[in-house]
Amino acid sequence: METLSTLDVIVRLTYLGAAVTFVLGLHMMGSPRTARRGNFLSAAGMAAAIIAAVVYLVSGEDPHLHVTTWGWVALAGGTVVGGLYGLISARVVEMTAMPQLVSLFNAVGGGAAALVATVDFMDRLAYDQSSMGAEFTVPVTLDILIGSVTFTGSLIAAGKLQGWVPGKPIVFVGSRLLTIVSALASLAAVVWVVADPTLMGLLLLVVAASLFGVLMVLPIGGADMPVVVSLLNAFTGLAVAMAGFVVDNDIMIIAGALVGASGSILTKLMADAMNRPISSIMVGGFGTGDGPADTSAGSGGEARLIGVDDVAIQLAYAEKVIIVPGYGLAAAQAQREAGDLGSMLEEKGISVYYAIHPVAGRMPGHMNVLLAEADVPYTQLKEMDDINPEFETADVALVVGANDVTNPAARRQGNTISGMPILDVDHARSIVVIKRSLGHGYAGLDNELYTDPKTGMFLGDAKTALSDLIAAVKQYAD
Ligand code: TAP
Repeated sequence: METLSTLDVIVRLTYLGAAVTFVLGLHMMGSPRTARRGNFLSAAGMAAAIIAAVVYLVSGEDPHLHVTTWGWVALAGGTVVGGLYGLISARVVEMTAMPQLVSLFNAVGGGAAALVATVDFMDRLAYDQSSMGAEFTVPVTLDILIGSVTFTGSLIAAGKLQGWVPGKPIVFVGSRLLTIVSALASLAAVVWVVADPTLMGLLLLVVAASLFGVLMVLPIGGADMPVVVSLLNAFTGLAVAMAGFVVDNDIMIIAGALVGASGSILTKLMADAMNRPISSIMVGGFGTGDGPADTSAGSGGEARLIGVDDVAIQLAYAEKVIIVPGYGLAAAQAQREAGDLGSMLEEKGISVYYAIHPVAGRMPGHMNVLLAEADVPYTQLKEMDDINPEFETADVALVVGANDVTNPAARRQGNTISGMPILDVDHARSIVVIKRSLGHGYAGLDNELYTDPKTGMFLGDAKTALSDLIAAVKQYAD
């Protein structure tokens, strides 16, 4: 039986405690009320696990570990530089740039997991070939495969989201064939390295998997990137779990498995909420309509344009108002104004709710995060299933920069959003839509709501329109 030193026991118990904080933290992140504490708890668990790993490393108790002076310098330097970069970038990033930051973190996570496996593989190839049985080569090759795909795929995804790589699907002559060839070559390299661990096999695996990562993401439209980022996040988790098997580290296996599982669930939830199979997102083409807005009314009928005073009067004399935020609210950074308008109406005794569609905006929980930033009370945020029955009794549904998630066309067959669950905005007694034009949203489809006789279009940038509205409502309230 293996005898454990006191330090071994302490480190293992710390890992166990950290694993418990990860699970509890994830559970708490399920509700906006407890999400912050959950995040903090998991982060504290991860900090404890990192400290335990470093103490174990420095103690020299690991018989397999031989760290040179330069190794220590690189370790300390990497920790300081990486830690500082992570801290600063997470603090200064704009909410709208969060998806690309997450994508960069995925790239770093997947790349690091692949590097851990590559170094271990080369070390054993040089000094200990007898230890390269299938129990080692299977996790190593899967780690390098998934980690390399994640690294290059996430860099392309971040580039598309940041506008450094064109957001439109990039397809060139032979690109589909090259994608299939690189995927098959990656799988062949896995089989080769497991059967006969050689440097050539490893090289083929890294090159083919990295190429596949690039080719997999290039043909996907920029607006579909959040789903891809979530999928690559799941891949990062899997790669880290495999790296845990390679270096025999329990906490990496647990944390990686949790990220892999939660990323996969999130990807599935997002795809379901958009009513599109993940496979159709991956083959791309849809959802590239983030470009300049079309100014035609679209669905055949006439849209009714209204002014700020008309909207202000409707709001000032309402009893119940439902604000429906969407991507345009995020693009205009108008969350504070939306929150201020809501609290002003509440002060006048009007019931105000914010209707949250699961895929409103461009990232999971986008609207929740924005409205939390504006200090909107959680009790006023209502998820789609809870708010939909409320529209019938709402005097005004105020749509701010939301489009697809309100489009009644989704209830019919035969269009790009057929079957997507929507907010029942058209059931409200009166509807006001704030956006800059009559153009379409992400799915490239005209919105029938705009020609509904109950709808008034208040055209303008969401931030300016809401500020004007706040001033006007104040006037009517006095
Ligand atoms: P969209 O359908 O994308 O519509 C947003 C609208 O905002 C546009 O029609 C645009 O109209 C308006 N807008 C843009 N900038 C504005 C500004 N400065 N001020 C006022 N309005 C502005 O948004 P949605 O209803 O939130 O739906 C989200 C869509 O994204 C869904 O189709 C969903 O499937 C997709 N999607 C979501 C996610 C996640 S996870 N949330 C991920 C990928 C894709 P104008 O140009 O006329 O102003």
